[in-house]
Amino acid sequence: MTEPTDLQRTLAEHDQEHLLRFYETLSPERRKALLEQLRGIDFDELDTLIEQYVRRKPHVEVPSGIRPPEMVPARPSDEQTQALHDAARRRGEQLIADGKVAAFVVAGGQGTRLGYEGPKGCLEVTPVAHKPLFQVFAEQILAARRRWDTAIPWYVMTSPINDVPTRAFFRQHKYFGLPADDVFFLVQGTMPAIGYDGKLLLAAPGRVAMSPDGHGGALPALSDSGALADMAARGVEQISYFQVDNPLCRAVDPLFIGLHAERDAEMSAKALPKRDPMEKLGNFCVVDGKVTVIEYCDLPEDLVRQTTDDGHLLFNAGSIAIHMLSRAFVERLTAGGGCELPWHRADKIVTHVDADGNAVTPDEPNAVKLERFIFDALPLAERTVILETLRTEEFSPVKNAEGADSLNTALHDQVRRAAEWLEEAGVTVPRDADGKVAAAIEISPLFADSGEQLAEQVDKHLTIAPGDKVYLGSRGQIGGEK
Ligand code: UD1
Repeated sequence: MTEPTDLQRTLAEHDQEHLLRFYETLSPERRKALLEQLRGIDFDELDTLIEQYVRRKPHVEVPSGIRPPEMVPARPSDEQTQALHDAARRRGEQLIADGKVAAFVVAGGQGTRLGYEGPKGCLEVTPVAHKPLFQVFAEQILAARRRWDTAIPWYVMTSPINDVPTRAFFRQHKYFGLPADDVFFLVQGTMPAIGYDGKLLLAAPGRVAMSPDGHGGALPALSDSGALADMAARGVEQISYFQVDNPLCRAVDPLFIGLHAERDAEMSAKALPKRDPMEKLGNFCVVDGKVTVIEYCDLPEDLVRQTTDDGHLLFNAGSIAIHMLSRAFVERLTAGGGCELPWHRADKIVTHVDADGNAVTPDEPNAVKLERFIFDALPLAERTVILETLRTEEFSPVKNAEGADSLNTALHDQVRRAAEWLEEAGVTVPRDADGKVAAAIEISPLFADSGEQLAEQVDKHLTIAPGDKVYLGSRGQIGGEK
């Protein structure tokens, strides 16, 4: 074999020589790319991980003495909580106005369940204007910039599988009106897929099968990409973190930002009551005094179904993956180039080439993917606030091709929320006999980003007839198709 003797030695030491099996058959470019990929893998670290997570199936111990967390309620029901909300909202608005807040979306996932080709953020999700998810968030950020006359840099995390198309999409749409200098792309890391025999898989004769290292990879990515340094240079202190899949998410929420800052928290989270005990949301718990998220698959069913004396679910606080992170906290966790988050094992079907170079897609999982989760940073935080939110206001993710948490449910929930805001503002909205909204309604964040803002903006005499398509756009522009 020509050239890669040092690498051959390393691979032999780690029992991974098969990765060079097709080397001689590759074109010079492919050879170069494969060598580069292999040199980027830390085989020593991998040996430890294979031992810990592949050869043994890690058993997730549910700690004894876990209890539900305390939460700040979504709607204040007493004066004290009202005062807390008011002070927090003022503080949050001040931080935004002072340019101390950045938005951060994690959009590096593969979106396998949705079956959509391309970055999920490019999926058109709004009911009338058919805007893509990225635009929904961009307009929220633009609206907040205008409202508080400030800069809000937006950090967009991609992965090697979708970085190029994501950047191209932003360029093609002229950054949705945001200054290009205020949109910062960072690429998360990847991990090889590991066969059950401990050997890495080749996705093609000249390519190791790799996948994104989980949204916990956001922490090292923020540090390694220079995003943290960029934030520091801009005077950003707080990072508003959200997932790309939820069009109802508020990318910049003064109340949440302010609560997190008022309590001097390092990392905070939004929660909502689960739809049913088995809903696929991470569960907020307190373990050894620290707020922790236990994934839906890791909390035993007896605990999932356990109720309080008054019949409520004991562990009812679901994670919707919306967080505030203080920049100093992320700096602390990533100091020295590392990242202390644990790995999680996922058993997956991974298409690969066999010894003869034929592509194989097994019917059953054949490999382990390792991912880190951002919520594992919560117990590492000195202080944490959990803010309860309303599902109808803030959560309707697009995860599946059909059924629950699909594009259909997200469209429906956007229309329902828009109708509720309009009705609260005194506008009559047509509904059918079942109470379902009988028109398609979309409110751009540039028109109003909350029910309260809408009430200030909207003409109460707006008429909406059954079957109308109504779009409330920027600066009072009202459009639609009748
Ligand atoms: C996730 C959370 C779950 C939470 C739910 C709320 C995990 C393991 N679970 O579930 O606790 O209740 O969302 O909607 O995350 N992503 C990356 N890089 C990656 C992997 C994912 O950027 O390597 C991003 C995706 O682009 C997406 C988000 O993270 O924006 C969620 O990823 P996904 O794998 O869909 O998480 P869920 O299992 O739906």
